[in-house]
Amino acid sequence: MIVYLNSEFLHLEKAKISPFDRGFLFADGVYESIRTYNGKLFKYEDHLNRLRRSLSEIRLFFDEIKKVENIIYELIKKNNIEAEALIYLQITRGTSFPRIHGFQKDDVNPTVFISAASFEVNRREQNEGIKVSLQDDIRWQRCDIKSVSLLPIVLANQNAIDAGGMEAILIREGVITEGSHTNFFAIKDETVFTAPESNLILSGITRIIVLELCNQLEIEVKEEFIKKDELKTFTEFFITSTTKEITPVINVNDWIVGNGKPGELTLKLKKAFDNLVENY
Ligand code: PDD
Repeated sequence: MIVYLNSEFLHLEKAKISPFDRGFLFADGVYESIRTYNGKLFKYEDHLNRLRRSLSEIRLFFDEIKKVENIIYELIKKNNIEAEALIYLQITRGTSFPRIHGFQKDDVNPTVFISAASFEVNRREQNEGIKVSLQDDIRWQRCDIKSVSLLPIVLANQNAIDAGGMEAILIREGVITEGSHTNFFAIKDETVFTAPESNLILSGITRIIVLELCNQLEIEVKEEFIKKDELKTFTEFFITSTTKEITPVINVNDWIVGNGKPGELTLKLKKAFDNLVENY
């Protein structure tokens, strides 16, 4: 596998990072996951804008963002990826030696890592739906930043997997914020509910697409927090992300939702999403 690290295309085994990298020491960095449809980067400008925002919010200056698109296509070529690709991009605040918490404002040499791998969406999960597990949202208060500081997420996701699920749905002060690496949607009375944008969720690119699709299909949307105690008043659920697209949720903490099959409105949105990406 060929990866990109700090201006070089390298074999993965040759790609080395200093143990004093602030990403390693402090999780001082941000990332993006982007994918292709029909060989073309999907919603690239939106991912780039979110990356710009994440960088600016953590006060990390990176002036080579315009080069990233070419690097990604070059990586796809160098790795001979013929079908779809998943791109992982991470930028950290470079090294700090000695290890000091405060950072240099000027003269920063960010660590830039980009990989491209073949990607196929999990059709079984999409067609049959998944089980999720409710977990406490113990993250910090800036979930709007796509930070690599993911330990609370790693633990929540593993708890969900241990409980036989695929995704953790996070609860903060009695309301659902989002999934560990997805946004969360619930449906009742033909209305789609999802948490509003704030510092408590990541503004998912797929989330925004779903809201646009609802608008086109004249499906009512309420960007409101869903209360944990009211979950059972909803009839359908789904999660969204770059890698999960629209994936129906059929089991929440062992409660079988409806008849245990993906819901009707969920499937309608999924079809509209599939149409969109097919023609992208
Ligand atoms: N995760 N919420 C969180 C906390 C996420 O990490 C993600 C994305 C999303 C969905 O965002 P989008 O629709 O832009 O992919 C919501 C990526 C896929 C990841 O962690 O790799």
